[in-house]
Amino acid sequence: MTTSDKTLNGKVALVTGGSRGIGAATAVRLAREGADVALTYVNGKEAAEDVVRAVEALGRRAVALRADSADAAEAAGAVGAAADALGGLDVLVNNAGIGVLGPLEDLSLADVDRVLAVNVRGVFLTSQAAAGRMGAGGRIITVGSCMVQRVPGPGGTLYALSKSALVGLTKGLARDLGPRGITASLVHPGPIDTDMNPADGPYAAGQAALTALGRFGTGDEVASMVAYLAGATYVTGAEYAVDGGHAA
Ligand SMILES: NC(=O)c1ccc[n+]([C@@H]2O[C@H](COP(=O)([O-])OP(=O)(O)OC[C@H]3O[C@@H](n4cnc5c(N)ncnc54)[C@H](OP(=O)(O)O)[C@@H]3O)[C@@H](O)[C@H]2O)c1
Repeated sequence: MTTSDKTLNGKVALVTGGSRGIGAATAVRLAREGADVALTYVNGKEAAEDVVRAVEALGRRAVALRADSADAAEAAGAVGAAADALGGLDVLVNNAGIGVLGPLEDLSLADVDRVLAVNVRGVFLTSQAAAGRMGAGGRIITVGSCMVQRVPGPGGTLYALSKSALVGLTKGLARDLGPRGITASLVHPGPIDTDMNPADGPYAAGQAALTALGRFGTGDEVASMVAYLAGATYVTGAEYAVDGGHAA
């Protein structure tokens, strides 16, 4: 494939939570498709710099920005910083997310506030800021969860609540931004082998058994759907499962 054939050639993408896991795989995949990439992180500076080097090795520009999605100013500010560093913004991938799972009675007010701040409020504020910087052809792609479609056991109430809010966000953004030629899509990963949910973790076998394919997915498998949506032109307001059949 020549440079000019690549779907995202000349585009700029921002991936929140791009230092590890699905976000890191997505940053590299978007760069393979020709995009320059900004990524955010909170604690993983070295990991973020590794991703920057991986993007640069593909001949694209990259910048790592420390921006905590739980902080309202930082969630919105990452957009301006990315657009200023790379000369605009075409694709936002709302990937940063946290999971606090456990017995209902053990979830504290601080847990509720933190999960909603990162998984919901931060996504809204980053999307709102991105809409202000994007022109026609802009793409907002958000990472939800298979637990929006099916909560397969106890302990997932708060996480499922937070991820379910992204359905309304995506449909609303599609309607708000469609007239400007900007699309919004939602991707629901199933169990994906990352630091958040390692395939050799204590609950892994049960999760794999809940999928039709009987295995965990990889960050690359989610990233390929994100890359498709970043290039798609007549897709908006909808949800896409990359879950090995978790919802089947
Ligand atoms: N893995 C799964 O099975 C699975 C399934 C369904 C959905 N998801 C969703 O997929 C997304 C990525 O998950 P993952 O498994 O790749 O997670 P992960 O391995 O824990 O990586 C999380 C990434 O997000 C960053 N991050 C965490 N909190 C942040 C915050 N407050 N502000 C900005 N960045 C933050 C981390 O940065 P630092 O390195 O600085 O900590 C890291 O780069 C999440 O939204 C998650 O809910 C995951």
